[in-house]
Amino acid sequence: MSKVTVVGAGKYGSTTVQRLAEADIADEVVMTDIVEGLPQGLALDMNQSRPVLGYRTLVTGTNDYSDTAGSDVVVITAGLPRKPGMSRMDLLGVNAGIVTDVVNQLMEHSPQATLVVVTNPLDQMTTLAAEVSGLPRSKVMGQAGMLDSARFAHFISEAADVDILEVEAVTLGSHGDTMVPVPSLCKVGGKLLSDVLDAATIDELVDRTRKGGAEIVGLLKTGSAYYAPSAAAAKMVEAILTDSGATMPVCAWTEGQYGIEGVYLGVLAKLNASGIGEIVEVDLTDSETAALREAAVAVKEKVEDLKQI
Ligand code: LAC
Repeated sequence: MSKVTVVGAGKYGSTTVQRLAEADIADEVVMTDIVEGLPQGLALDMNQSRPVLGYRTLVTGTNDYSDTAGSDVVVITAGLPRKPGMSRMDLLGVNAGIVTDVVNQLMEHSPQATLVVVTNPLDQMTTLAAEVSGLPRSKVMGQAGMLDSARFAHFISEAADVDILEVEAVTLGSHGDTMVPVPSLCKVGGKLLSDVLDAATIDELVDRTRKGGAEIVGLLKTGSAYYAPSAAAAKMVEAILTDSGATMPVCAWTEGQYGIEGVYLGVLAKLNASGIGEIVEVDLTDSETAALREAAVAVKEKVEDLKQI
C-alpha cells in the first residue's frame, strides 16, 4: 500500500495531487489544507474523473492530519506564494512559521515519511523541514532543480528552434538569485549547447531562467507558477515511490561534493525508496563550480537569518 500526502490544496498542491493520481502509482493520495471543504471538494471532483481517464488512485481531501497517517512520501506546498515584485526571500518569515507547524503535525502521524518541500524560499524551507522533522537528511529534499532545468530547456528549445524532447538542460544551485544554470551540461540533439547557440544568446537564456518564476508571477498578477512546478514535484515523488534510482536535479543535503558541505543546495542526485540515494557529482567548468560555491554561501547566510526568526 503506497500513500502520498500533499499539504496545501492551492494551485501547486492540487495540480500535484492531480498529476500523481493520474499517474496511478499510489494507492491513495491525501490532500490536506486548512480551508474547510476545499480539499474535500477538489478530491471529489478528481475522483470522478477516474472512470473517464481510466486510473484507480483515490484522492482523500481532509483538514485533519490523522488522515495523513502512514504516508510514504509527503509533498509540502503549504505557505504563501509571491506577489509581483516580491523575491522568494520576502516569504522567509511567514512561511517558516507555516512549514514548522506543518512538519510537526506530519511527523506525529508519518514519522517514516520522505519529505519533498516546495514552499519558498525553497532552500531555506527545505533546511527548516529537515531540522524540525529530525529525519535523516537523505529523507528530506526540495523541488527546484527539476523546475528550473525544465524552464531552461524550454527557453533553449525556443531559441534553437528544436524539438523540446531533444533538449537536455541542467540547473543547479539555489532556487533564487544564485541559481546556476549549467550550459556545459546542456545538449541539443546530442550536440553541445555551445555548438548550437552563441555565447550571448546562452547568457540571455541563463538570465531568463534565473528570473523564470518572477516572469510568470508578473504575468499572473496573483499567485505563482504551478503547471511546471507540479510536474517536477510529481516526477520526484514517482522516482521515490517506484524506487527508480533516476538522477534528477534536486535540493539535497551536501556532504563535501564540489567542495561544499553542510547546506541544502541544488545538485544532481539519484532518487529511490530511501529518498536521496546518492548525490551524483559531475564535471563542471571552473566558473560553474565557483557559482555553485557562491550559491552555497548565499543559502547558508539566509539559513542563519532563519535562526533569528
Ligand atoms: C517558481 C516558484 C514555484 O519558481 O518557486 O515558479
